[in-house]
Amino acid sequence: MSLLMDIPINSPILGEEEETLVKEVLRSGQLTSSSLKGGEMVRRFEEGLRDFIKAKDVVAVSSGTAALQIALIALGIGGGDEVIVPSFTFVATANAVLSVGAKPVFVDIDEHYTIDPEDVIKKITDKTKAIIPVHLYGHVANLEAILEIADKKSLYVIEDAAQALGSEYRGKMVGRWGDVGCLSFHPSKIITTGEGGALIFEDEELAEKARMIRNHGMVKGYDSRVFGLNFRMSEIHAAIGIAQLKRLNEFLKRRRENAEKLRRLLTGIEKIKLPREREGCKYNWYLFTISSSKRNEIKRALEEEGIHARTYYETPVHKLPLFNLNIDLPRTNAASKSTLSLPVHPKVDNVVIEKIAYTVKKALKA
Ligand SMILES: Cc1ncc(COP(=O)(O)O)c(C=O)c1O
Repeated sequence: MSLLMDIPINSPILGEEEETLVKEVLRSGQLTSSSLKGGEMVRRFEEGLRDFIKAKDVVAVSSGTAALQIALIALGIGGGDEVIVPSFTFVATANAVLSVGAKPVFVDIDEHYTIDPEDVIKKITDKTKAIIPVHLYGHVANLEAILEIADKKSLYVIEDAAQALGSEYRGKMVGRWGDVGCLSFHPSKIITTGEGGALIFEDEELAEKARMIRNHGMVKGYDSRVFGLNFRMSEIHAAIGIAQLKRLNEFLKRRRENAEKLRRLLTGIEKIKLPREREGCKYNWYLFTISSSKRNEIKRALEEEGIHARTYYETPVHKLPLFNLNIDLPRTNAASKSTLSLPVHPKVDNVVIEKIAYTVKKALKA
């Protein structure tokens, strides 16, 4: 018998409730709805999510990428416009900007691996229309500084909270601070719908516009009033999401417990930098990302134990073949070579946490 663990970096937790609700949809035959408000499951999922986030409105869509695209379209961003994004992110953030004909302008990160407000200031031009701070790893971007810059320069703020459901700044959930917040429900995320995403709004009019854009701009039948596409979430996906929401608080609690325990065990080790919560913020601990010049050795040692640590964004977006830009983003380059994300998801128990800490120490001979 092999004693090797097999611990993924993140993994969906699905149960009977998900199965029951999906079966309900299948039996009903109502797999989707092209009404403005969406089908019954979509509406129930949106209500549950809205109550959890305490937002004015939430619009469920087909993916996190779609949420970003809709946000940009709803804010009227398009050809000739520039949108400031961090390069240290998943490519979706920049691709959404490209998809509306606008230009992503890449900026560096700060010590929390999120967008650097000072670099944002340097990159603003007459063409800049919006800033997209990404709450990477569930770390909250420097919202105070970003919102101040946006306010001064009359720019929109679209929060990419794909990885940050449940993260808070000053007791208020992320996604509610900018003009729009975007979530992803990919199976690797805090909760899943299979594929899926959502937009978070404080402005009800903008939310209604997003509902139209989700559905080819239609309101009553085939009456397209604005540009849109099919970004709808299906009833099957929403059914999974309704069940997932019931366990969201428990998921977040388990992640926090795991992150705190791992922090205690790794504190004081030289050669690694531990993640810490920005002042006034509460992270969802989507990932526990350390930084070390020995990250490849640590990763290898963990892999040998069956623990799948991941090096997210070894190639920063600006260096991907699609963009291939020769710009200097020193903190981004350094992070792409030194960060290593460790699993702290709800399936990770104390035995695994202790194994991770032991293996990290062993790899560093600490
Ligand atoms: C930071 C970030 N933005 C956007 C997305 C896009 O979400 P989706 O995969 O649901 O389209 C992701 C998902 O991986 C992400 O991590």
